[in-house]
Amino acid sequence: MKQLNIEALTVRYRGEGSNQPPVIGNLSLEIKSNDFVVILGPSGCGKTTLLNLIAGFSEPTSGSLKLDGHKISGPGADRCVISQQDALLPWLNVLDNVAFSLQIRGIAPSTRYETARGIIELVGLKGYEHFPVWELSGGMKQRVSLARALVADPQILLMDEPFAALDAFSREKMQLLLLSIWQQTQKQILLITHDIEEALFLASELVLMAAKPGRIVERVPLSFGKQFCEGLDVRQIKSSPEFIRMREKVLTWFFQQNDKLNIQEQ
Ligand SMILES: Nc1ncnc2c1ncn2[C@@H]1O[C@H](COP(=O)(O)OP(=O)(O)O)[C@@H](O)[C@H]1O
Ligand SMILES: [Mg+2]
Repeated sequence: MKQLNIEALTVRYRGEGSNQPPVIGNLSLEIKSNDFVVILGPSGCGKTTLLNLIAGFSEPTSGSLKLDGHKISGPGADRCVISQQDALLPWLNVLDNVAFSLQIRGIAPSTRYETARGIIELVGLKGYEHFPVWELSGGMKQRVSLARALVADPQILLMDEPFAALDAFSREKMQLLLLSIWQQTQKQILLITHDIEEALFLASELVLMAAKPGRIVERVPLSFGKQFCEGLDVRQIKSSPEFIRMREKVLTWFFQQNDKLNIQEQ
């Protein structure tokens, strides 16, 4: 089974005094196949640091990260990062941006364009293949970013506040798209957000992190996203008593975490 295993991870940035709590302290987490894990936590608790370690962009001070039993020792095609800022090539059109991921792997033009077209359709951009990306809205650019990630067929999508710059309407549309892609492709997704509603709606498992040191304080299995995949209406889900109860519970926890941080910083 495809699995990401993180064990006893501790991270200290260079220059940090050893009397300070580490940025991440003794954190363990596993992500199984088809999990949609959402990490929610206050600003500065180490979410991006954790994602960068999984992506292979940096190394922990101690502890281990393994994907399917193999130590993560650098970036790899099995992991793809999508962040708030798109990393598109502005001088290329949608099709060439998506096909570029395959071009750098040496895949023949006919195959790469056919694959890219299929993925463009999957993210709802059929008909926009020849649009230059600078003409697209923020939401559409994020769809192209998603397509670029998916076309490389990674095992796990790593998403760092991917919809933070979008308006509420585009944001919800992207959430629905992501759920349908998750359902269709069965990929593992790890998404970081500080939007509580987004976290509750998307996660098959919600991971709550606290700061100083960055650590996991609670893991909550959820099924709101699955309900959407099974055909329930998004508005019905988000206005249901269970959703609202859970939102208030997590909101209360979140305010407590922020208060604790403010007290520590005073
Ligand atoms: N390269 C770095 N060098 C030193 N400290 C850093 C570096 N990157 C992040 N930090 C610090 O580590 C903590 C966690 O940062 P980050 O992982 O970006 O948190 P989050 O994504 O949860 O907001 C913060 O206090 C931040 O200031
Ligand atoms: Mg961050």
